Amino acid sequence: MKKNPIIPYILIMAFGLGLIFFLSVEGAGNKADIAKGGDKAKTEQAAGDKESASGDVDPEAVAKQKCISCHGGDLKGQVGPNLHGTGLKEAEVKDILTNGKGSGMPAGLVSGAELDAMAKYISELK
Ligand code: HEC
Repeated sequence: MKKNPIIPYILIMAFGLGLIFFLSVEGAGNKADIAKGGDKAKTEQAAGDKESASGDVDPEAVAKQKCISCHGGDLKGQVGPNLHGTGLKEAEVKDILTNGKGSGMPAGLVSGAELDAMAKYISELK
């Protein structure tokens, strides 16, 4: 039996079609993944925006970042004085945080929502 010379071409064509089909399915899957990733980034950003907009500040986190280096790990004093039971009013703490105090307490460490949250937090530390 003589081989039909067209058969290799048909095989190659079938292979090519299969490859195209596979790639388009694969591509569609990736597109869904990419779309999902994009959504996630968007939601995360929205969450971040919400946090700053609503003034939802975690005073302990801010203190860990900006205050404990001088006031000690539990804000009970180190270079700076103990911040527990200062008897300071919220407005007084706000003033200190805005303008600094003495030579050691720097001004302007916190501002905006952080300032409000920290003033309240420190004034309420027992
Ligand atoms: C560079 C070191 C330093 C950092 C950082 C620092 N403080 Fe102070 N802080 C001091 C010193 C020193 C004093 C004492 C100033 C004085 O009475 O002369 C002080 C005083 C204070 C007082 C007044 C306490 C009192 O009883 O009169 C408050 C309130 C205060 N700091 C809050 C904070 C908060 C909140 C942060 C973080 C946002 C912070 N400090 C970061 C050094 C620091």
